[in-house]
Amino acid sequence: MTLVLGIETSCDETAAAVVRDGETILSNVVASQIALHAPYGGVFPEVASRAHIEAISPVVSEALSEAGVSLDDIDAIAVTRGPGLAGSLLVGMNYAKGLAFGADKPLVGVNHLEGHIYSLWLTERSAPVEFPVVCLIVSGGHSEIVAIHAHGEYEMLGSTIDDAAGEAFDKVARLLGLSYPGGPAIQRAAEGGDPEAYQFPRAMLDEGYDFSFSGLKTAVLRAVQPHHEGRREPKGEGMTPDQLGPGVNVADVAASFQAAVVDVLVQKTIRAATEHGATEIWIAGGVSANLALRQEMTARSPVPVRYPPLRLCMDNAAMIASAGHFRFVHGYRDDLDLDVRPMWPLLSIKDAMRRAEG
Ligand code: KG4
Ligand code: ZN
Repeated sequence: MTLVLGIETSCDETAAAVVRDGETILSNVVASQIALHAPYGGVFPEVASRAHIEAISPVVSEALSEAGVSLDDIDAIAVTRGPGLAGSLLVGMNYAKGLAFGADKPLVGVNHLEGHIYSLWLTERSAPVEFPVVCLIVSGGHSEIVAIHAHGEYEMLGSTIDDAAGEAFDKVARLLGLSYPGGPAIQRAAEGGDPEAYQFPRAMLDEGYDFSFSGLKTAVLRAVQPHHEGRREPKGEGMTPDQLGPGVNVADVAASFQAAVVDVLVQKTIRAATEHGATEIWIAGGVSANLALRQEMTARSPVPVRYPPLRLCMDNAAMIASAGHFRFVHGYRDDLDLDVRPMWPLLSIKDAMRRAEG
């Protein structure tokens, strides 16, 4: 039996978890900062690191006690090394190093994207995984399509050339005067809307696996505020309903925007899965909570579609512990002078070990 303590502080959740053998969650504690950042309509980096400093110690203690274990029982400490906000990553990294040094435990740095992938390992299934699998990772900071050929063996197929999918949801929510985070707010607003009311652009639909969402955001801005030329995009709480153009139906805009994002994500992921012989499609990251995305992907995919339960879609440390577990059992260790990597690409384990050696 292997017990891994996971620590995640890359963005606006302070999280710690204990996972057994990479797939059983013994505890999964998340302290969310959503309320702190809501007034800014997005994550405020300095506020985030200060909140992590306050939360990290009680969150880790709670994760250990909820799991009914002590630090002595832990086999390795896995911590998010990047990508993410530098100041936020540093808090988790330094805390993890302190624990690893003090308790003489191995330290494993984990890529946040790999963490999202491993949220699927914590999701119940009836049959073992057969590779290759194609995973769509969509969150506030990322939109990637990855082919997974084995544990820790990744092939990056595509990513966004501008905004991430979740970022697009957050920005459009701000345009519509909806609350932060934008994803859930748009999903709710879209419920009564007509997804065909507006024909929003589906950028680069037939070109490769990369995404672009910034044109879509501009198209929404033009639809809701026809005279926006020369004005700046709203910051903070965004527009109030009376600043929207005349006759704008928020539910229709939200539904049409959501349909455009989902359409692109679904078509590209299915094409990637088909062209790479994937046995399954996985969806992970905050946006994988989106109901329309789940339904469309499942309805249109020729192979089974899997996504994590809601609490594992959002940032959490159980997924970091699981990813760290598989690195750990493959012999991957980091030194105690490990740095954070705010822009870290997703590397396969063997490439990461080769780079560490050279
Ligand atoms: O994975 P996550 O918790 O943090 C990052 O790593 O970024 O993802 C947060 C993102 C936010 O942009 C949020 O608006 C989006 O996930 N999100 C959603 C939904 N729930 C959260 N987007 C669309 N539909 C949802 N139901
Ligand atoms: Zn994330």
